[in-house]
Amino acid sequence: MTTYQPSHDQFTPAASGLVFNRIGYGAMQLAGPHVWGPPKDRASALAVLREAIELGINHIDTSDFYGPHITNQIIREALHPYRDGLAIVTKIGFVRGADQSWLPAASPQQLRDAVHDNLRNLGLDVLDVVNLRAPGIAGPDGSALAEPLAALVQLQREGLLRHIGLSNVDAAQVAEAQAITTIVCVQNQYNLAHRGDDAMIDTLAAQGIAYVPFFPLGGFSPLQSDTLNQVAARLQATPMQVALAWLLQRAPNVLVIPGTSSVAHLRENVAAGALRLDAQALTALESLANRL
Ligand SMILES: NC(=O)c1ccc[n+]([C@@H]2O[C@H](COP(=O)([O-])OP(=O)(O)OC[C@H]3O[C@@H](n4cnc5c(N)ncnc54)[C@H](OP(=O)(O)O)[C@@H]3O)[C@@H](O)[C@H]2O)c1
Repeated sequence: MTTYQPSHDQFTPAASGLVFNRIGYGAMQLAGPHVWGPPKDRASALAVLREAIELGINHIDTSDFYGPHITNQIIREALHPYRDGLAIVTKIGFVRGADQSWLPAASPQQLRDAVHDNLRNLGLDVLDVVNLRAPGIAGPDGSALAEPLAALVQLQREGLLRHIGLSNVDAAQVAEAQAITTIVCVQNQYNLAHRGDDAMIDTLAAQGIAYVPFFPLGGFSPLQSDTLNQVAARLQATPMQVALAWLLQRAPNVLVIPGTSSVAHLRENVAAGALRLDAQALTALESLANRL
């Protein structure tokens, strides 16, 4: 594969002015086990973030509930003052319980507090993009979003955030949100083996809205499949590179944010941008749809 520069492949959500290189970085893996507490190796976490920027990544996905607080503090330590053009996208709507649980926290006051927590821990005056992480741990539960979105719009009016996105939502929730405000991105679970959002991706592409799959490599249990291994071997790539290349080829509005705590994996993931999947590979990978 040739050397790949993320800046050679970009997407700008309609009316946002944001220019995302399509290969970004998801920072959740930088906290400790179960996304709780400090990482085993803080120096490595800092190194991953600095290397991400050197490799041309300009989109970092995070949340103040990773750690909690710790992931954002590591981002600040590694990268502040931030390079021009870097978009840090955060998400609010949950907090962590003392038992490491994930608790919905989407009252207007809780959302305001979360925005201020993100601003303080990231060292920013304004957040580039804030995703409202809707309720539902196993997937969207269809909750009404009008009240929390009204709170986000108010925070946007106050100049604390520039753009609003959604996470963990179904098509009806996206439509409900779009009747209230402009949505620049949607972040839902989607990968080679989990393709429930195929119709949504196409709808959002037509509207110029970014679709950002979380768990692009399968999440806490990365994808494992003989078919994936065989496709990767034939293309002289790794299985994770094939998984990312497939997402990048899926639609032009797909932005990938693979998470890793390893500089070697980060380099491998960025290099996936140079991989093109041929018809034979795409046909073989169809057998993984909603199967693993
Ligand atoms: N909105 C939401 O509700 C939500 C939910 C989950 C995640 N997210 C966001 O989505 C981002 C991505 O999700 P994720 O990090 O959970 O899952 P992921 O990107 O699908 O997979 C991460 C896992 O893959 C491994 N990995 C990464 N690159 C690899 C490579 N080249 N070769 C082998 N293994 C590799 C990582 O281990 P190593 O550390 O060893 O590389 C880690 O175990 C998160 O960082 C977070 O920002 C959002």
